[in-house]
Amino acid sequence: MSVFGVDLSPKMVGLARHAYPNLRFTEGSMTALEMRDDELGGILAWYSTHHTPPQWLPDVFAEFHRTLAPGGYLLWGDYVGNERLQPTHGYGRPVSYESYLLPLDRMVDLLDQAGLVVTARLEQEPGGRVNRPHACLLARKPETP
Ligand SMILES: C[S@@+](CC[C@H](N)C(=O)[O-])C[C@H]1O[C@@H](n2cnc3c(N)ncnc32)[C@H](O)[C@@H]1O
Repeated sequence: MSVFGVDLSPKMVGLARHAYPNLRFTEGSMTALEMRDDELGGILAWYSTHHTPPQWLPDVFAEFHRTLAPGGYLLWGDYVGNERLQPTHGYGRPVSYESYLLPLDRMVDLLDQAGLVVTARLEQEPGGRVNRPHACLLARKPETP
């Protein structure tokens, strides 16, 4: 089995390579994955889609559907809510980025519209370093279109 990671940020790719020197990490965007159709057995999208403006999420989930093999799984995890955040401080330093928190039902609908069937959902209470509600969804690309 081949496992690799993709991130938009060169610094994050560098950190990942340092933490897991035996795995392959490349710079790239979830909106345009450099992979063939049906190539992936599974995708882990972990606390990364909240940076994507909601109008672009269909493109991201269409890419996940395109690159997953029939029967392949997406495990998605992220913060949920109904607000746009523009923090100026975080992780003990000044920061500048945007986050778009969406209700979990909206994420389920977006996955469904992309052709990914949600088979499990886990809603988590606020807690941890970022004290917000978060959730995981397991979704599957059907064997037959
Ligand atoms: C909160 S960090 C999570 C990083 C990592 N997934 C983890 O769980 O530790 C969010 C990451 O999403 C990445 N990201 C945001 N938009 C992206 C996109 N369109 N394609 C790939 N990565 C993206 C950011 O560069 C950032 O590293």
